[in-house]
Amino acid sequence: MDALEAIATRRSLRQLDPRPVPAALLARALELACLAPAPHHTKPWRYVIVGPQRREALAARMGEAWRADLERDGHPAALIERLLRKSRRQIAGAPALVLSCLTHEGLRDWPDERRARHEWAMAQQSAGAGMQNLMLAAHALGLASYWISAPLFAPEAVREALSLPAEYVAQAFVVLGYPAPGATPKPRAAPDVPALIVER
Ligand SMILES: Cc1cc2nc3c(=O)[nH]c(=O)nc-3n(C[C@H](O)[C@H](O)[C@H](O)COP(=O)(O)O)c2cc1C
Repeated sequence: MDALEAIATRRSLRQLDPRPVPAALLARALELACLAPAPHHTKPWRYVIVGPQRREALAARMGEAWRADLERDGHPAALIERLLRKSRRQIAGAPALVLSCLTHEGLRDWPDERRARHEWAMAQQSAGAGMQNLMLAAHALGLASYWISAPLFAPEAVREALSLPAEYVAQAFVVLGYPAPGATPKPRAAPDVPALIVER
């Protein structure tokens, strides 16, 4: 599969076969993730492969943080329970679970809040590029994947549950696995390219 085909045919697939992902495939996809562009030639991303044994504790700790947000928002208890059950199932049941983190390593230390915020935004853009690389590589290697953004909303819960180094800031999960038999992604329309041409 060439790059154009990989980009055109990659889809998020949430119905995955429970069989494990071979370590060599995961290692290759992560190696390619680390070829993503990054600001000032830095390498701010860190990837954590979350083994099955930590998943329940992780889901529970993240669930507490999410529950607090949902209760504060005033959602009905039944909805909260349903959302938390689904999230726990996705985390615990992932054939492979990769956590993308960022560090401040190599980033510029601006004296003002505005530039510091944009510096971090650049790192986050790079984390997105890394995750895209990871998902495209996984696809080209015959795996399906999808993104879960919950860690971005509960980085302390993730750090505590996984005993991460203090400098790791959790960004997102990528769930990877072989597609479940017969699973097909929802149809999607041809892209409507929102490109504005400014000539003069
Ligand atoms: C920043 C970001 C956050 C996302 N968060 C989630 C998520 O929390 N859960 C999920 O199932 N999918 C998540 N997705 C996947 C999108 O829903 C998916 O990419 C989108 O629907 C387009 O579908 P496709 O990937 O098949 O093209 C996220 C994607 C991005 C880029």
